[in-house]
Amino acid sequence: MKDEMLSTLAREARELSYCPYSSMAVGAALLGKSGKVYLGANIENASFTPTVCAERVAFFKAISEGEREFVKIAISGGPKGEPVRKSFAPCGVCRQVMREFCSGDFEIMLVGETIEKYTLEELFPASFSKENME
Ligand code: THU
Repeated sequence: MKDEMLSTLAREARELSYCPYSSMAVGAALLGKSGKVYLGANIENASFTPTVCAERVAFFKAISEGEREFVKIAISGGPKGEPVRKSFAPCGVCRQVMREFCSGDFEIMLVGETIEKYTLEELFPASFSKENME
């Protein structure tokens, strides 16, 4: 799948964000090795801490449907109802979840007016992972 297509899907996924508290609408489009794309949007909660980020929603949908290997993810976030201008980076918890299922070469695309590309190793170096549990 082309980067532009995955980026468009991430932008569109923002529209399903439930973010009445922060008004930050985030969308993610995750490409599995099977070729299937899993979309996610952030889901907030009045109690705040149960809030789940768009990236984790996409990962948990994929994992719970049996996908275990991943190619890349596109992430787009910004004020609800406005087109995204700046890049929006994944939080530390989402990086840790990515690391459980992805190696360092997993691609992370931050979709704003332009697309910034990183690897998981670049955004999450010297990470703790299942290799540390062996
Ligand atoms: N958020 C995400 O969806 N992904 C991230 O990686 C960082 C933060 C959401 C959580 C919350 O609903 C809003 O953005 C503001 O933090």
